[in-house]
Amino acid sequence: MCGIIGYTGTQTNRNVVDVLSNGLSRLEYRGYDSAGIAVADPTVSVYKREGKLAALEEALPDEADDALAGIGHTRWSTHGPPSDENAHPHTDCDGKVATVHNGIIQNYQELRDELEANGHEFDSETDSEVIPHLIERALDQGASAGSAFRQAIGRLEGSYAVAAVFHGREEVYATRYQSPLVLGVDDGGTMLASDVPAFLEYTDQVVYLEDGQFAKIRPIGIEVRDGRGALVDVSVETVDWDPEDAGKSGYDHYMLKEIYEQPRSIRECLRGRLRPLEGSILIEELDDVPRPTEVHFVACGTSYHASLYAARLFRERGVRTTAFLASEYDVETVPIDEETLVVGVTQSGETADTLRALRTANGIGAQTLTVTNVVGSSAARETDHTMYIRAGPEIGVAATKTFASQQVSLAMLSSALTGECSREFVESLRALPDQIQSILDDSHADAVAEEFVHSDAYFFIGRDYGAPVALEGALKMKEISYKHAEGFAAGELKHGPLALVTERTPVFALVNGDSNTEKMLGNIKEVEARGAPVVAVSDDPDLVEAHAEHVLRIPETHWRFYPILANVQLQLVSYWVAHRLGRSIDKPRNLAKSVTVE
Ligand code: M6R
Repeated sequence: MCGIIGYTGTQTNRNVVDVLSNGLSRLEYRGYDSAGIAVADPTVSVYKREGKLAALEEALPDEADDALAGIGHTRWSTHGPPSDENAHPHTDCDGKVATVHNGIIQNYQELRDELEANGHEFDSETDSEVIPHLIERALDQGASAGSAFRQAIGRLEGSYAVAAVFHGREEVYATRYQSPLVLGVDDGGTMLASDVPAFLEYTDQVVYLEDGQFAKIRPIGIEVRDGRGALVDVSVETVDWDPEDAGKSGYDHYMLKEIYEQPRSIRECLRGRLRPLEGSILIEELDDVPRPTEVHFVACGTSYHASLYAARLFRERGVRTTAFLASEYDVETVPIDEETLVVGVTQSGETADTLRALRTANGIGAQTLTVTNVVGSSAARETDHTMYIRAGPEIGVAATKTFASQQVSLAMLSSALTGECSREFVESLRALPDQIQSILDDSHADAVAEEFVHSDAYFFIGRDYGAPVALEGALKMKEISYKHAEGFAAGELKHGPLALVTERTPVFALVNGDSNTEKMLGNIKEVEARGAPVVAVSDDPDLVEAHAEHVLRIPETHWRFYPILANVQLQLVSYWVAHRLGRSIDKPRNLAKSVTVE
C-alpha cells in the first residue's frame, strides 16, 4: 500500500531529493502505481508521475540546492485510477502547501463539496486532496502552519498517515491515525516514513508515533504533541535491523534472498527460547500469560495459513482453538469473552483487517496477543502482549521467511502457553535451521519448475499439518507466477477439485511417513489415474517413488514440523516458475506488501 517518506536535514552532503528518492525505492516493495516528491524551497516544487520510480526519476531536477525539506510518496490507487494528477503529493490552490497521505478519508466527498463551495479548485479524483485545501483554508484564516495542519486533520474521518511541507519552511509536519508512521533521528537530519527500511541506511534511531500524535520534524530534533497540543515526551529506540538486511546482497530478487535467509532467521527466532535440557520452551515476554481456555487466531493470507497450522497445535494440546480470516471475524456471531485469548498473526503488524479484529477483541475485554515481525508496529502496540518472530526485514511482497518464522514461533507459543513439550520437540526445533540449509543446498526444484512451467494449473495437497502448507504453496504460486493454483486438504479432492485434474495440472503432494501416509498415497493414485504428473515432497522417497514423477526430498523431522521443511521446496518451485516466466517476482501486479485498508 502507499508509502510515505519525509526528510529535513543539515548535512550539506545529503541532498533532500536524493534522500527522498532512496527512501521511495526502499518503499517500492509495499506496492504502488505512481510516485511523487515535493520539496519546500522558497516555494513548493512538486514532481510526480504515474508508473514506476524510473518515470519519476526522469522528471526530477538535477539540482535542488534551495530545497529545505521534502516529502515523497508511492501511491497504490484507491480513489481514482493511477495517473499523474492522482499521484501524490497534492497541493492547495496556490501551491504553498504539499501533502502526502496513506489511508482512506471516509468523509472526503462532504469535505470536497464544502471546499469547492468555498471556491477551492481540485486537480485530482483522490480523497487525499482535501487535506492541502483544508490546510490552505485554515492558513487563510490566520492559523500558523502547525495549527492549520492540526485543524485540517481534525476534520478527517477514516485512517491516515499524513505529512506536509510548507513553502519557505524547513520543517515537515506529520500525524497518523490507524496507519503506520515512524520517525528517524540522527545528527544530520530527521526523517519520517511508513516503514523503517525507508531510512535505515541513514539511521537506526527511531520514534514510533502513536495514533493521534502530531510531529514536527526539524533539521535538528523533533517535537511531538498530543491531540490537545501538549508536548509529549517520546523515547528514541534503536532498531536492530542491519541496512544490509534490507538490500539484495547479490541475489536477483529479494524473494530468493529471503528464502535463503531462512536458516538464519529461524535461528534468530529460536534464540534464548529453548530449554533443551528440561525439554521446555520459555518465551520471556509472555511469561505472565496464563494457559488459555480458548484461543482465536485472526490473520490474513500467509499469516492465516500459519494460524491454521497453529490452531491444530493448540487443539492437540487440549485448548479449544479456531483460526479465523481476520476479515471474517465477527464477534456478534463468535462466542468470545474475557477469558478468550485472541492472537493476531501479522508479519507487518499493520494489516487493516487484522487490526480491526484485534481492536474488536480489545473492546470486548478479551486478552490479546500479537505475533509479528515488526517492532513497534500498530498491532504490537495495541495488544496486551507481543511475541516477535525476529525474521528481519522482508521486502519481497511474497511472504517466505516470515511464514517459516511464524510457524516456528507459533509452535513455541503452543508449548510455552500450555506447558506441554518434550525434549524431542525442542531438539527437532533446534535442528530446523540446518535441515532447511540442507534443502537449500540440494534442492532440484528449479528443474521441476522448468519441466512444468507451461502447465495449465498447479494443485497442492496435504493432510493434517500439511493441509495449511498446501494452501500456502498454492498462494505463493499464484501470486508470483500469475498462474492458476489451488491448495486442498487432500481428503477434499474427490469432493469436487478432482474434476479439474488433467495431464496438464501437476499435483504437489506433501507426504511423510506418518499416520496419513496410506491416505495420501490413495490421493496420489487418484490423480495419477487421471494422468496428472505428481511431485511428492517427502522425507521418504522409497514410499512415493513408484507414483511420483519427481520427489523433492526433505530431511526427517518431528511429524509436526515436516510442513515447515516441505514448504521450502514449494517456495523454490514457485520462485523458479515465476522466474522462468519473467514475472515481477518481488512486486507482483496488483499486490502490496502491507494491506492497510479493509
Ligand atoms: O503483514 P501480514 O502478515 O498481516 O499480511 C497478511 C497478508 O497480506 C500476507 O500474508 C500476504 O498474503 C502475503 N504477503 C502473501 O505472500
